Amino acid sequence: MRDSVGLNERMFAWYYPFVVGLAERAGLREIRRTLFCRAEGRTLEIGAGTGLNLPHYTPAVSELVVTEPNSHMLAHLRLRLGSDRLAVGAWQLVQTGAEVLPFEDGCFDTVTAAFVQCTIPDPATALAEIARVLRPGGRLLFLEHVRAPEGSRLGRFQDLVEVPHRYVAAGCYPNRRTETVLRRSALRVEQLEHGSQPRSSPTVRPMIFGSAVRIDA
Ligand SMILES: C[S@@+](CC[C@H](N)C(=O)[O-])C[C@H]1O[C@@H](n2cnc3c(N)ncnc32)[C@H](O)[C@@H]1O
Repeated sequence: MRDSVGLNERMFAWYYPFVVGLAERAGLREIRRTLFCRAEGRTLEIGAGTGLNLPHYTPAVSELVVTEPNSHMLAHLRLRLGSDRLAVGAWQLVQTGAEVLPFEDGCFDTVTAAFVQCTIPDPATALAEIARVLRPGGRLLFLEHVRAPEGSRLGRFQDLVEVPHRYVAAGCYPNRRTETVLRRSALRVEQLEHGSQPRSSPTVRPMIFGSAVRIDA
């Protein structure tokens, strides 16, 4: 849910670094490091936000293409890319959403995404695009907050607050069933762990992380 003048996107870009900073210091940074240090070859990050994954890429990444649609988030990213030394071979920044990726078929070895499927208006289309730009055998590394299990009180609460949550968090659904969407996609889930986002609002606490591979030829 976005307002016509983009006020919620501007507000979200302003307060997100403070909110996510609490979780980062409480252990989320380590989960990101363990996951995203696995990126290799030509790598695409979608919805990079303020760039919290950037320090975790290793020299195994030959080229990093960082993407983000929100121009207020892009301002954070430009600052970080200008000041931090990245370990990757080369990088470029592209303003785009994930539903239509301006890249050729099969041109990436790795795609990374953290807390993005919650906000993308059409996650199934975005996953189809991710599968398209991955080479066969290429890997999606994902970290996402998700709806709590069926029948749980937290899941019902997430459903209840969905509309206001989407407004204050620039379109973020607290109750996305991302595991289901992933398992229905053209990617094969090879590793998926459930966890709890530390020091965060209960609405975004249940999370999944792992990897999925493009298997077709
Ligand atoms: C919760 S933030 C996560 C930012 C960052 N990935 C992180 O881990 O901190 C969600 C991000 O998804 C981006 N986003 C929103 N709509 C998107 C879309 N259609 N495609 C790709 N990214 C999108 C937002 O602009 C925002 O930067």
